[in-house]
Amino acid sequence: MISADFGSLPNWGRSLISVEGIDELAKRKLQEVPERYVRSDEERPAMLASSFHQFDYQQNIPVIDMGKIAQAQHREEEVRKIGEACEEWGFFQVVNHGIPHSLIDSIKKIGKEFFQLPLETKQKYSVRPGDLQGYGQTFVVSENQKLDWGNLLGLIMSPPECRDMNLWPTEPAGFREKVDAYNIEIKSLTGQILALIAETLQLQPDFFEKKFGDAYQKMRMNYYPPCLRPDLVLGLSAHADMVGLTLLLQDDEVPGLQIHKGDQWKTVQPIPYALVVNIGNIIEVMTNGRYKSIEHRAVTNKEKARLSIAVFCAPGFTEEISPAPELIDEDHPCLFRRFIHQDYMDNYFSRGVEGKNSLYEYAAMKN
Ligand code: OGA
Ligand code: NI
Repeated sequence: MISADFGSLPNWGRSLISVEGIDELAKRKLQEVPERYVRSDEERPAMLASSFHQFDYQQNIPVIDMGKIAQAQHREEEVRKIGEACEEWGFFQVVNHGIPHSLIDSIKKIGKEFFQLPLETKQKYSVRPGDLQGYGQTFVVSENQKLDWGNLLGLIMSPPECRDMNLWPTEPAGFREKVDAYNIEIKSLTGQILALIAETLQLQPDFFEKKFGDAYQKMRMNYYPPCLRPDLVLGLSAHADMVGLTLLLQDDEVPGLQIHKGDQWKTVQPIPYALVVNIGNIIEVMTNGRYKSIEHRAVTNKEKARLSIAVFCAPGFTEEISPAPELIDEDHPCLFRRFIHQDYMDNYFSRGVEGKNSLYEYAAMKN
C-alpha cells in the first residue's frame, strides 16, 4: 500500500520482463519484421504496405475552437459541440488553445532529439523494475505478448513527490525546462476543458477538477521509428486510457493515431498545433457511461519516424470514484460501482494491456 501523501508508488512495474527493444532492432539491417512484432490477422492495421497510405479523413473527430469559447456569440454553440463530441466520439481536437506555437515546436524538437540520442545515453533514464517512469517500451507482461513498434519516455509531473528527477533527461539541452513549461500550459488547458465538459452535462464546473485538480499528471512521449512493414505491426496496441483525460500532441506530418468507431479504425487527421483530447476510463465512470473512453491505437509509417506527446491527468490515488448522482435516474441506471482509484490502478496493471474490457469487469454494477 502507498501512504496517503503519495510518498511512494506501488510496485506496478513488477511484471515487466526484459525483451529486445526497438533500439536494438534499429541497429540491424532487418530484412523482415521479427515474429514478436507481427500481429495476428485481426489486429493488423488494414493499410497498404506501401509508404504514404491515403487515409480517409471523411467524418473525422470534431474540432473545437477554444477561441470561440471566449466569444459570447459563439460560446454556446462551441460548448454544445464539445458535448456532442464526447458523447459520439469520446475524442475531439482543440485549436486556438492559447499554448504558444513556439513552445509546441520546441517540445517536439527536443522530444525527437532525445529519442535519437545513442542508446547508451537514453539508458541512463531506463525504466527500473517496479517503476512507471523513464525510458523504455510499453508494458510487457508475458513471454508471448506481441510487442509494440515504439519506445516511450514517461515522466510523472505531479504529485511533486513522485517526480523522479534522476529520470528527467539533461540532454538535449533545455529538455527539463521545456517539459516543465509545456506541462504547466497543458495543466491549465486541462482545467479549462474539464470545466467545459462539466458544463455540457450541467454539472458543477469543478465537478471533475476537484477530483483531478492538482492530483496526478504524467507526460509520455511516444516515438515510433519507421517500420519496413507498417501493415503487420502496431506502434501502440489498442487500449483505452485508464486515466481521466488525455491531451495528445500528434505529429503534424505523420498520421498514426487511430480510434475505434463502429467496427472501423479511423485515422485522426493531424492538424498543425492542435491537441487531441480524449475521455479516459475515469470520466466514463464519473459520467455514468454517458461519455465513453474509446479504444485507440497507433500505427507506424514506412519512411518516417513519428513522435507523439501525451499528457494524462487522473485523480489522486486515494480518491473515491463513482458516477455523478445527477446522471443517474430511472432511464439511466447506475452502471458503475464505487471504487478507490488506487485499487483500480492495481487491478489494471496486474492485467497488462487488454483493451478496456477490464474496466467493466472491475467496476460494472452487478445486479
Ligand atoms: C497514448 C496514446 C497515441 C499516439 O499514449 O495513450 O494513445 O498516437 N498515444 O501515440
Ligand atoms: Ni492512449
